[in-house]
Amino acid sequence: MKALVYHGPGQMRLEDRPMPFIGLATDAIVKITKTTICGTDLHILKGDVPSCQPGRILGHEGVGIVAEAGAGVTGFAKGDAVLISCISSCGKCEYCRRGMYSHCTSGGWILGNSIDGTQAEYVRIPHADTSLTKIPPGADEEALVMLSDILPTGFECGVLNGKVAPGCTVAIVGAGPIGLAALLTARFYAPARIIMIDLDDNRLATAMHLGATDTVNSSDGQAVAAVLKLTDGRGADTVIEAVGIPATFELCAEIVAPGGTIANIGVHGTQAALHLERLWDRNITITTRLVDTISTPMLLKTVQAGTIDPQKLITHRFTLDAIADAYDTFGHAADTRALKVIITA
Ligand SMILES: NC(=O)c1ccc[n+]([C@@H]2O[C@H](COP(=O)([O-])OP(=O)(O)OC[C@H]3O[C@@H](n4cnc5c(N)ncnc54)[C@H](O)[C@@H]3O)[C@@H](O)[C@H]2O)c1
Ligand SMILES: [Zn+2]
Ligand SMILES: [Zn+2]
Repeated sequence: MKALVYHGPGQMRLEDRPMPFIGLATDAIVKITKTTICGTDLHILKGDVPSCQPGRILGHEGVGIVAEAGAGVTGFAKGDAVLISCISSCGKCEYCRRGMYSHCTSGGWILGNSIDGTQAEYVRIPHADTSLTKIPPGADEEALVMLSDILPTGFECGVLNGKVAPGCTVAIVGAGPIGLAALLTARFYAPARIIMIDLDDNRLATAMHLGATDTVNSSDGQAVAAVLKLTDGRGADTVIEAVGIPATFELCAEIVAPGGTIANIGVHGTQAALHLERLWDRNITITTRLVDTISTPMLLKTVQAGTIDPQKLITHRFTLDAIADAYDTFGHAADTRALKVIITA
C-alpha cells in the first residue's frame, strides 16, 4: 500500500509499504478514505517530536471504512464507516477511567507518532472499540475529518481548560486550524470578545469571518499594546496559545488579565521563559493539555446540527499520490492561504 513515511528532520517520502495486520484481537484495520495534515506533523518534520522515529508512517487524523475487525472488537464490523480519533484509548486503564485518554497506558497519541499513522491507504487502529466513532449515515465525511483532532483540541485544550465563560474576553494567539477550531468552539459559551492574533492577514480575515470580534497582526511587535488597548488595559480573561513557539507563549503571559487563564495548546520544542517575577501576584492559571478527545461525541452532534461548520476550515484537496504537494501547500500557508487540506486515499 502507499504511505507517507517520515525519514528524519525535513525528510519524508511516499512509499510502498506492507499492509498493516491485526496484531491484537482489539485492533481493527481501517481503509482510509480521507485524511489531512496537522501542524503537529510539521513539528515532527522540524524534529520537535523525538518519539516519532524515522521509518514511521505519519498522520493521526482521518475517516475510513473498517476493512477487518479483530475477534475482540464488538462495536465495529467490516464495512462500517468510522471516524478515527487522534488519541487511541483502552477505556480501562487508570487514566482512561479518569477520562484522560491522552495518557492511556497502552494508547494516547501514538498514531503517526510511535505507531504507523493515517497518511496511507490502510491503518491499524489499536483499541478499536474505544478509539473509533461510527459515522452517521449521510454525514459530510470531509467535515468529520476535523473531528479527529482539531475541534476536540481547540475545545478541550483551549476552551474548556481556558474556562471560557459568557461575557468574558478571549484572546487566541495563532489563527491556524487549531486556533480557528478554538474560536469556533469558544462561541458555544458566548464570550463578549474574541481577539485573534497572528502574523498572517489572510488567516485573520478568516477568523473575522468565523466570528472573531477583533484581530491583531503581531508582525509589528506591538501585539501587547494592541490587546491592552482593546481591553481597557486589562488584558484577556482567557488567553489560548495555539502556535507552539516561545515568543507566542511569552506573549500570552503579557496579555492575560488578572485572575485569567493561559491555556496552552501549542506543541513546544524549545524552552519558553516564564516570568514569575511579573506573574506571581496576578492570580492567573496556566494549563497544558494533550487532547483527550472526550468531547468528540458532543462535537459530532454540534456538526450534525449545524451549530458549527468545520467545512469552512477546508481550503485545498489532494489525492494521496500528491501528498508531497499537500505538505508543501500546508507548510507555506502564508502564500497558499491553506488551512486544512483534505487528502483522498
Ligand atoms: N495539545 C495538543 O493536543 C495539540 C493537538 C494538535 C495540535 N497541537 C499544536 O497546536 C499548534 C497549532 O496547530 P495548527 O495546526 O493550527 O498550526 P499552524 O502551523 O497551521 O498554525 C500556527 C499559526 O500560528 C501563526 N504564527 C506563527 N508564529 C507566530 C507569531 N510569532 N505570532 C503570532 N502568530 C504566529 C501562524 O501564522 C499560523 O497561522 C501546533 O503547535 C500544533 O502542534 C497541539
Ligand atoms: Zn494533530
Ligand atoms: Zn487506557
